[in-house]
Amino acid sequence: MKPTVIRSIKSQQKLSRQIIASGKTIAIVPTMGFLHDGHLSLIKKAKVKADLVVTTIFVNPTQFAPHEDFDRYPRDTKNDIRKIGSVGGQIVFMPRADEIYPDNFQSWVVVDKLTGLLEGASRPNHFRGVTTIVSKLYNIVRPDYAIFGMKDYQQAMVLKRMTSDLNWPIKFIIAPTVREPDGLAMSSRNKYLSGAHRSEATALIKALRFGRKMVRAGEMSASEIKREMKKIITKSAPSGLIDYITLTDMDSLETVRNIRGKTVASLAVKFGKVRLIDNILLK
Ligand code: PAJ
Repeated sequence: MKPTVIRSIKSQQKLSRQIIASGKTIAIVPTMGFLHDGHLSLIKKAKVKADLVVTTIFVNPTQFAPHEDFDRYPRDTKNDIRKIGSVGGQIVFMPRADEIYPDNFQSWVVVDKLTGLLEGASRPNHFRGVTTIVSKLYNIVRPDYAIFGMKDYQQAMVLKRMTSDLNWPIKFIIAPTVREPDGLAMSSRNKYLSGAHRSEATALIKALRFGRKMVRAGEMSASEIKREMKKIITKSAPSGLIDYITLTDMDSLETVRNIRGKTVASLAVKFGKVRLIDNILLK
């Protein structure tokens, strides 16, 4: 079925009020559009949980730095709406930027410690934009469930912290990463990879899986594992520029030296102007 498209904040608030008054539940799936099967897996998961799924599409300017790809970020609203309908998403909320950020906008939601490393270290202010837009979407949509992808692991952890710290009565769900058949994590930015870069990009998951194999074989030293992962990327993706390879505690995201508890390996690699991130649970 064709989903209903809502553009104004007021209309979305009115709809949410009605749904809540009728005793039904709402799930939110925030996105920046240009949807792929990874996004659709979140909508499918949301459908299982709630009566009404609101997928939001908003390319959020405040999470991009001036030199980043906000203007180039891919957009294809017509297809997005069709895809959302194909998996049973009922509502598409697509607010206008000038209504979300009116003149003189000056209020921000900030998560402290968790945002200092990994993506936060490479992209200052990025998470402030993410936490602020998701807070605004929570307040407008008033969901019972919020679904995010493991693909952006740090983002999921930051938003989980925020949801709990600020007492939103929302069940926070993290869904697994959906991959291309060759293992590359699906991402709206993959379409900008040139042919050669696209084949080299499989080095990310190769390195992550090798790291996991080392841990399973008993290797405990984070620096050993990182060294081997780096070798794989340098060899299989000679044009890739490694931004970081980090092994962190699954919950605190603090860097670990020895693998003891649940550990996540995360990496970011740039191919030309395209920056890819991926991660895997090592243990
Ligand atoms: P976007 O990159 O469009 O991603 C929207 C959601 O889809 C995020 O929760 C992301 O983790 C998830 N996702 C992306 N690729 C995935 C994949 N291959 N498998 C599973 N899930 C995947 O992340 C954002 O937008 C924005 O930062 C947002 C949270 C919407 C705030 O603006």
